[in-house]
Order: sequence, then structure tokens, then C-alpha cells
Amino acid sequence: MAETLLKIEGLKTYFFTEAGIVKAVDNVSFDVRKGESLGLVGESGSGKTVTALSVLRIVPKPGKIVEGKIEFKGEDLLEKNETEMQAMRGREIAIIFQDPSSSLNPIFNVETQLRDVLLAHEKISKEECRKKIIDLMNLVGIPEAEIRMREFPHQFSGGMKQRVAIARALALQPTLLFADEPTTSLDVTIQAQVLDLLEELKKKLGMSLVMITHDMGIIAKMTTRVVVMYAGNVCEIAKTEDLYEHPRHPYTALLLAAVPRLDRKKKLRIIPGNIPNLIEPPSGCRFHPRCEYATGKCAEEPPVLEEVEPEHFVACYEWKNISLKGENH
Ligand SMILES: Nc1ncnc2c1ncn2[C@@H]1O[C@H](COP(=O)(O)OP(=O)(O)OP(=O)(O)O)[C@@H](O)[C@H]1O
Ligand code: SF4
Ligand SMILES: [Mg+2]
Repeated sequence: MAETLLKIEGLKTYFFTEAGIVKAVDNVSFDVRKGESLGLVGESGSGKTVTALSVLRIVPKPGKIVEGKIEFKGEDLLEKNETEMQAMRGREIAIIFQDPSSSLNPIFNVETQLRDVLLAHEKISKEECRKKIIDLMNLVGIPEAEIRMREFPHQFSGGMKQRVAIARALALQPTLLFADEPTTSLDVTIQAQVLDLLEELKKKLGMSLVMITHDMGIIAKMTTRVVVMYAGNVCEIAKTEDLYEHPRHPYTALLLAAVPRLDRKKKLRIIPGNIPNLIEPPSGCRFHPRCEYATGKCAEEPPVLEEVEPEHFVACYEWKNISLKGENH
């Protein structure tokens, strides 16, 4: 088994709002291994983005990490001061977002933005820096780099803009990249190109990739292991193939059933009910109000993740008693 790169243990990140405390990430634990592509999947509001922001320690106010451990290469990131974290961001851990504009500054051209990243961490000559910028733009497939580097973000199409954001994130060759719904805002054909690019870059640079999405199709294409989140909790962790064939958590089975399949006449199932309010989440298993298998116990204590077969973890009291359908059934 590959070495562990990132180890999240018992992470709790809450938002202290006027309406109450939003328990966005509540006791989340999982690992990211060296060089792997891990999927982080769950419906909107399940805590995927807040988990990634917590690792980078960029949770916006009124959010706060209240408990847990985030070990990266054996060091606890929660023990680091802001200067030490700044040195980690970009160089060790980077992130790209759904909207590439949010990682780019509209008032500077691409050359300036990439140069700022490079020079903040490395002492290199102007000429070396220029060469690196051109190399980076070539790496992410932006043609005519020498001309385009002088252009501003608004002069790029959505797909090209995301490539610039990827170039910026990868400028310092991080060991770990979080890609938070990186293709959701793009056209379908461009989506596939950006996903291919990410896969290629991951291999080339030997980094680990955490692919955040609610799209089970992207998970199947891009990842080898998956963490399923529901309402701020982890409900299942498994190898991607295993998860598709033998989901053990009722929520995972519903996510799989909701994937539209072109080759099937199967009707798209919508997961009934809504994501719960995270200020006063349901007691016990947070999925119980929506779960067709729930028993009395489910509303009492939250189930903990247990390993039900090698590399397959599930947090559900009933996993032994229920038989769930995988994708091919
Ligand atoms: N700034 C904030 N203030 C208050 N609550 C917040 C804030 N940011 C996030 N939250 C809450 O944290 C919870 C988790 O949000 P998060 O953005 O991590 O979900 P997500 O899984 O990434 O969803 P999506 O698929 O929509 O991106 C949500 O209930 C959200 O309302
Ligand atoms: S613990 Fe209970 S409510 Fe939660 S998923 Fe399992 S059966 Fe459903
Ligand atoms: Mg999100």
C-alpha cells in the first residue's frame, strides 16, 4: 500500500453564525496516499469544500476548525503558524476551484500572476522565470504561450482560464492538489479535456489528486479510491471499483442509482428528502430521516466507520442486514 501523505483525523470545522453553529464538517477522518487519485463525493452541502479549505487552513469567517488533526508528511498542519502555512500553500498543497476566476486576479496579466507565485517561493532570475512561465503554459496546453502570457484572464475562454488556474496551482509542483469541481462551470467537451489534462499532469508530476465532485461519472473516470460524505460526516470509504459494485451504505447506493446512464433505460432516481439543517442535524446517523433501512438505534448514536472488508469502510448499523444494488444491477 502506498505511503500516507495526508491524514485527517476527527476534523470538526464549524461556522459560528447568528442563526447558530453550522456543523459543516463534523468528525471527519480519511487518508490521502502518495500519488493516488482520491474522490471526495457527496450532495451539495455535505462538507467537501470546507474539508479542503480546512486542510489549507483557509476556512473563511465565521468558520473555524474546532477539533482534529491534519497531518501532512507526518506534521500536524493545525500546529503551524500562518507564515509556515503560507510556505506550504502552493508548494506542498494547492487547490483549484469550480470558477477559475476565483483563483485569478482580473487586473494582472497571466505572466505577472504566474511570476508572483514563482518569485514568492524561489529566487530565480527574470529570464529563468520567463522560461518557467512559458514551460508551465505549455504544460497545461495553452498554445502560443509567449503571446498569451501578456493577456488578462477575461481574454481567455472558460476552459483556457481553468488551464491558467491549473498552471498557477501547479507552478511550484505541489505534492497534493485538491480539484474542487474543476469542470462544473465548463461545456461538456471542454470538461473532458480539462479532466484529461488533470490526469496527465498528475502522472507527470507524481502528485496526489483529491477530486471533489458530486458527479459519480467523474469519480469512475478519475479516481481509484473514494470517500463518500453526507451532511458533514464520512459514510463510506472504498476502492472505486468496489464502491460501484458493492456499495455498503444506503446513501452511496442512492448516489449510484441517481447516475444517468446512456446505455440503460433505467429511470433516474432522485434521492428523496433534503440535506439536513446542519445547525441542528438529525440525531444518531444523520441520514436516518431519509433512510429506508433505519431502525430505532439509528436515531440514537452516530454509527462509526468500521472496516467491513479490506480497504472498505462503512458507517452504518445495518450493513450486514441489507443487500444494496451496485451500478451493474
Ligand atoms: N461561510 C459560511 N457560513 C456559514 N455556513 C457555511 C459557510 N460556508 C459553508 N457553510 C456551510 O457548510 C456546509 C458545507 O458546505 P460545503 O461548501 O463544504 O459543501 P460542499 O459539499 O462543498 O457542497 P457543494 O457541492 O455545493 O459545493 C453547508 O451547509 C454550508 O451551508
Ligand atoms: S445507520 Fe441506520 S439510518 Fe444510517 S444509513 Fe445505516 S440503516 Fe440507514
Ligand atoms: Mg463545494
